[in-house]
Amino acid sequence: MLYPEHLLDEIRQRTDIVDLISESVQLKRSGKGYLGLCPFHPDKKPSMNVNAELGIFKCFSCGKGGNAFHFLMNKLGLSFPEAIRMLADRAGVPLPEDEVKDPEALARHARKEAAYLIMQKAETYYREQLKQFSGQQTYAYFMRRGFDDDIQELFGLGFSPDSWTQTLQFLTSSGFSDQAMEDAGLILRREKDNSPYDRFRGRAMFPVHDHLGKVVGFGARRMVEDDAQPKYINSPQSLIYDKSRILYGLAQAKSSIRSLGYAILTEGYADTISLVQAGFSNTVASSGTALTTEQLQLLSRYSKKLYIVYDGDAAGEQAALRGIDLAIEQGFDVRLIALPEGEDPDSFVRNRGPESFRRAIELAMTIIQFKIESFRKQGLLNSPAEKAQAIRSLIETVAKIPDILQHDFYIQQISDTLHLSYGQISHLYDELRKASLPSINANRNAFAIQKKAIQQTDVPQATKNIDLLQISVLPEEKEILHLALTHEPSLRALCIKLNITKQAFISEAAGKLYDEIILAYTQHGSRPVHIVLSERNDLEETVRELLMDILFGKVIASPKWKEFNVKFPENIEERLLVEALASLRLKHLDIELNALRRQLQSGLNQEDEMKIVSMIQTLMQERHDIPLKFHTSKL
Ligand code: CTP
Ligand code: MN
Repeated sequence: MLYPEHLLDEIRQRTDIVDLISESVQLKRSGKGYLGLCPFHPDKKPSMNVNAELGIFKCFSCGKGGNAFHFLMNKLGLSFPEAIRMLADRAGVPLPEDEVKDPEALARHARKEAAYLIMQKAETYYREQLKQFSGQQTYAYFMRRGFDDDIQELFGLGFSPDSWTQTLQFLTSSGFSDQAMEDAGLILRREKDNSPYDRFRGRAMFPVHDHLGKVVGFGARRMVEDDAQPKYINSPQSLIYDKSRILYGLAQAKSSIRSLGYAILTEGYADTISLVQAGFSNTVASSGTALTTEQLQLLSRYSKKLYIVYDGDAAGEQAALRGIDLAIEQGFDVRLIALPEGEDPDSFVRNRGPESFRRAIELAMTIIQFKIESFRKQGLLNSPAEKAQAIRSLIETVAKIPDILQHDFYIQQISDTLHLSYGQISHLYDELRKASLPSINANRNAFAIQKKAIQQTDVPQATKNIDLLQISVLPEEKEILHLALTHEPSLRALCIKLNITKQAFISEAAGKLYDEIILAYTQHGSRPVHIVLSERNDLEETVRELLMDILFGKVIASPKWKEFNVKFPENIEERLLVEALASLRLKHLDIELNALRRQLQSGLNQEDEMKIVSMIQTLMQERHDIPLKFHTSKL
């Protein structure tokens, strides 16, 4: 079917391309546009550019580009009509063929649409009530809490009239059915005669929006403190409100979460609004529920760095703890902001001002520091036995972090904070890992299961796209060579402490250049190697080209350390070297592992098979242990 141009334009206009791409790519603000890792080729440094205004994307590395339709076609392998269908649904634009769709689905769609509409109407109505005489008390209440007109507007705050049917009557007169009110959770029914009445009466209204800004529910706070009723009455789950998938304040906060690179998570409506009012516009709330996987997935579209701020009491600490493990397992970099006893974010920022809160953010703890602090408070670090138990629990937490390159950083932090040697902790880490790994067992059955598991393991990500035959120099190799050429301590570490040889490199040219560097270093130790090499005129063509490329080309420092660590490490060159070596070793291992897996499929006898399985296990173990092997303390 050929769609009219204006329809495509409408879909495009209603689609936020940054939002769309953010669902699969983490975008960061960069100049006027956004930048992220390109999903269409193995991308190490972000080269996917997105222009929100023009609604287009372009990868400066692999060349893929286009509008929202092209993105979906490329990403999901859709045809053009399929991409149109998908974006039309997303944007809520009906297509001509929708008219003849399945009547049941159509009815459901219509009910959802009505629920969205009625919620929008209700929000406007409650807002207007705030300006009526009966709303004055609530307006004054908001003002007293420091919520000025602008922030009231931003969050759509309102007042529900203190009456059983006033809202219902208004919605009826606006043309909405009882069914629509019930679907949206705005009315309840009396048991005796099923007659409808308003759910929210005489309360301060906090609309809950989805991340696109549509009202899906309300939190309604009582205005009389000694009311026997609960402090908050909330909308029920409904066709349009799934509490596990909503973060309060995300619609208002999402763009600043993206540009600031982190989100602040509170527990309540009031806390979120107060922080936003105080200038922390990247704040959202889980609103009374424990953080869910779905909420984290939603958040991860905008950033994977999360500052959890919790009330300064035992209950608040427990609540924070609940969310942490989920977030860690999903690869979030989590920090915890501790408030003084008896304060919540709202009272803290009002009593002590934004600067104090900013300092609290700077002092935020990592998960490891938080757990140590909490053990300390409970007196669990006093006896040696308890201390050992605490360390085990800390290491278990570290092991949950999916990015194993970060483990080392946290192991270091455990040893620093508890004043234990790095060696001790990392030894324990090794032990615990080994214990949780199934040992190789000659038992045939176990062997068969293991073999199957190994064959089913995905090809490791690091090298999925490396074609051995036409390999060019890898970014890691360039980084290592760059450091070897320009930073003498790195070179010394490479050839003396770490004893890295040509074999560590994957591409031929990199290995050769490395050999030349070592040769120059051993023969002319006192002169900078890059000078020695630049003067040589007997270098192989490819090696010379690589040398020039590295010396004159832009070398990109890995952004990882800026993203993940509290402080930019002082010994940045060493950290970069370690990171590049670890990453290169990973790729090397993956190549070897793939080769062994292929052998396994070629029909060997039982004995050879077992040998290969055991080799694979050894390599897999090394793959796990890489961060420890390359720790800086060895440099
Ligand atoms: N909550 C709720 N029902 C209650 C109490 C709390 O749904 N009876 C939820 C609300 O989402 C609330 C959050 O839990 O925002 C945190 O509760 P609390 O700290 O008591 O509320 P605050 O948001 O701090 O509200 P206020 O400062 O107005 O008392
Ligand atoms: Mn509060």
